[in-house]
Amino acid sequence: MKTIVANWKMNLGVPSSVAHFVRLSEQIATNDNVEVVLCPTYLALQTLNLENQNGQFKLGAQNCNAEDAGALTGEVSAEMLVGVASHVIVGHSERRKKYGETDHDVNQKLLAVLRHNLTPILCIGEDKGESATDVLRQQLDGGLTGVNTRQIGQVIIAYEPIAAIGSGHAPNVGDIARVVEVIKSQLTYMFGRNISAKILYGGSVDDRNAENILLINGIDGLLVGGASLDAPKFAKIVEIAKARA
Ligand code: PGA
Repeated sequence: MKTIVANWKMNLGVPSSVAHFVRLSEQIATNDNVEVVLCPTYLALQTLNLENQNGQFKLGAQNCNAEDAGALTGEVSAEMLVGVASHVIVGHSERRKKYGETDHDVNQKLLAVLRHNLTPILCIGEDKGESATDVLRQQLDGGLTGVNTRQIGQVIIAYEPIAAIGSGHAPNVGDIARVVEVIKSQLTYMFGRNISAKILYGGSVDDRNAENILLINGIDGLLVGGASLDAPKFAKIVEIAKARA
């Protein structure tokens, strides 16, 4: 089964999120071949959860705090997301870069997500000029510290090269395929041969490149930013994933 994640980022307030959700629900029919995880603003999670009574989509948060509760003004804990979200994105490069999140911070969030039986989507990816192999090994090592062999099966890894995000230019499939091998070998090194973490690709995915990316060996789905805000484009990406599952 392929996993298609929609990261709406800081777009769409509550009424717009509901309107977009309704458009998507009219244009997308999910089945056993594909799961679609919509990640709206925190504010819309509860409302979309009510709209999603038939379970057509899964809902995810874009971030969380590592603590369960406390004097942390403005933060939302993984514990608070239980019941309104099934997935939580952690370590998105925008948070690493703009809010200074370290691998340790990301790891603490990921462990909090697992502690509450939610599914973490761990974003990793090199910046321009960096060695993908070095950065990914370090981010996997740091981000997955303390995760056991049972929990790793619940983790989704999203490979998002920073230069590709929002640029309209995804890397060629050969480059993505090589990086997938690096990720797999690092996971095998850390958890052994029988690991089953899903690996997604993200960064300028659209309805034109989705098919070729989904054909890459070891790619289990896509993390879609900009194109997830366009209902017909996103619906087309889901259709492509259904056919590839
Ligand atoms: P993009 O964003 O699809 O707009 O490049 C992807 C992401 O940042 O998750």
